[in-house]
Amino acid sequence: MVGHDGKMSTCPTLETERLTMRAFSQDDLDAYFDLFSTPEVSSALAIPASFDREQAWAQMAFFLGQWELRGTGLWALEEKATGRLVGRAGLYQPERADWPGLEVGWALHPEVWGLGYATEAGARSVQYGFSEAGAERLFSCILPENVRSQAVAKRLGFSLLEERVLSHFPQMPHGIWFLDT
Ligand SMILES: CC(C)(COP(=O)(O)OP(=O)(O)OC[C@H]1O[C@@H](n2cnc3c(N)ncnc32)[C@H](O)[C@@H]1OP(=O)(O)O)[C@@H](O)C(=O)NCCC(=O)NCCS
Repeated sequence: MVGHDGKMSTCPTLETERLTMRAFSQDDLDAYFDLFSTPEVSSALAIPASFDREQAWAQMAFFLGQWELRGTGLWALEEKATGRLVGRAGLYQPERADWPGLEVGWALHPEVWGLGYATEAGARSVQYGFSEAGAERLFSCILPENVRSQAVAKRLGFSLLEERVLSHFPQMPHGIWFLDT
């Protein structure tokens, strides 16, 4: 499939009411780095202070690569009204022995919190996970203190399955939320 920047990617471009969900592109780097450097997002995701532009690029490449390797992945979220990158959302599945499965995740620039974009992109991701990717159960891994993220999961119909420590983040247990088809 040809992405918005003319490059080939297995990541499909989807439209929701207010967002274009598309493959990450090189041009997103500065906006992506800014977004994940905001105090609100970096504290919610426990991003280390050492996070830099190089790591931001590596993350975008990692998310894009999941589409090639697994046929699922995260989308860059572009606000239709402005054309700017406002976040990421989609279906995340790293290669980790204790990862529960196909996870629906979301992260937005604080300037667009409170508009419903995470729920909008999350709903389309859920639909993609069940209909296009063929999943029977989707997960979302959310820290207990992240009430805004829990609210998104609840709006999408997720329920809390358990709390457990995941190996990549031993500091505290994650809530493992699930949604069945
Ligand atoms: C988690 C996160 C994506 C939630 O963002 P959010 O803006 O609170 O969530 P939504 O986009 O679903 O917006 C919901 C809010 O918009 C309001 N809203 C306004 N218009 C709306 C619309 N058309 N549709 C739905 N909700 C709308 C809702 O009432 C709700 O408001 P409230 O927060 O006062 O209850 C955001 O806080 C974030 O990026 N956090 C940092 C990264 C992170 O923690 N990611 C998750 C890791 S597990």
